[in-house]
Amino acid sequence: MSPYSRITGTGSYLPPRRLSNAELTAELATQGVETSDEWIVERTGIRARHFAAPEVCSSDLGVEAAKKAMQAAGVQPADIDLIIVATSTPDMVFPSVACILQNKLGIAGCPAFDVQAVCSGFVYALTVADAMIKTGSARKALVIGTEVFSRILDFSDRTTCVLFGDGAGAVVLEASETPGILATDLHADGKHVGILCVPGTVSGGKVLGDPLLKMDGQAVFKLAVGVLEDAARATLAKAGLQDTDIDWLIPHQANIRIMQSTAKKLKMPMEKLIVTVDQHGNTSAASIPLALDVAVRSGKIKKGETLMLEGVGGGFTWGAVLLNL
Ligand code: ACO
Repeated sequence: MSPYSRITGTGSYLPPRRLSNAELTAELATQGVETSDEWIVERTGIRARHFAAPEVCSSDLGVEAAKKAMQAAGVQPADIDLIIVATSTPDMVFPSVACILQNKLGIAGCPAFDVQAVCSGFVYALTVADAMIKTGSARKALVIGTEVFSRILDFSDRTTCVLFGDGAGAVVLEASETPGILATDLHADGKHVGILCVPGTVSGGKVLGDPLLKMDGQAVFKLAVGVLEDAARATLAKAGLQDTDIDWLIPHQANIRIMQSTAKKLKMPMEKLIVTVDQHGNTSAASIPLALDVAVRSGKIKKGETLMLEGVGGGFTWGAVLLNL
């Protein structure tokens, strides 16, 4: 058993098709749906998103991100002894994306499973992997967030279809004698199921109910702003640290206004906020590891720095992971 788990490599992958707000707006206009670059940028901070080709699944995006994370960590697929995938857009009802992805990586035998906590999925998955490493169940874990949210968007609903994108991010989390993950804090409140959901299901060979995303944006906005501050404060208290100890804040990339408000509440200057929502849109469980990888590869985030990762999403779920990179 090791006292800590530590991220030793990050990776990400975006499908090549990139749509700027202007391109999406023009496409939506052909279907009689009216929106604008100005509205999207002002209300959300989003300027572009990537959409996967129809035959590309979450496991395909996840595999590419995982390969890059393993390369960065200097580990081989055969070294991996745990795979956890956070996703709400799985390739199929079952088996899990983690099992499909395990096979695509040429690995066999290690435990592999999905975590479904929507946009909080990555912080949930990282927390589970951290616990499994600390209790000796694993030594080298792949933790992946991957989504093809474009599949569940209602392109006749302008209040939601402009917000989301596809992508994947991954980390290798290894047993370590030095910290590592310092503290985690997870929550859920199922009474809010209805404010953000895809209510359809598969039954008797048919889709029952609506299989497209529904969101009460204002209700989500209000809840998100409150719980993100609480989760950050809870992890800091568990680790015995102050908000001034955080070098970088990486919140779920849903809306720049929610992110800025969280940074303000934590008294963090905006330069310490990692922002990729402008280029990726909301990629749900993929957004945090994607943002982390972009910031690491650009040289912004450096080894040894203290990061606060924060997720919030459908369920309602939320949580945070405080770590030394
Ligand atoms: N283009 C142009 N106009 C629009 C669009 C659009 N794409 N969408 C809505 N509008 C209009 C509305 O119809 C409304 O018009 P009206 O005043 O004439 O009725 C007006 O814009 C304002 O609409 P609001 O819904 O009040 O806009 P708001 O400022 O609340 O922004 C938004 C909406 C961006 C969705 C915001 O509420 C938000 O970001 N919510 C949080 C979303 C989020 O964080 N999700 C994270 C979790 S995601 C997950 O877990 C999968």
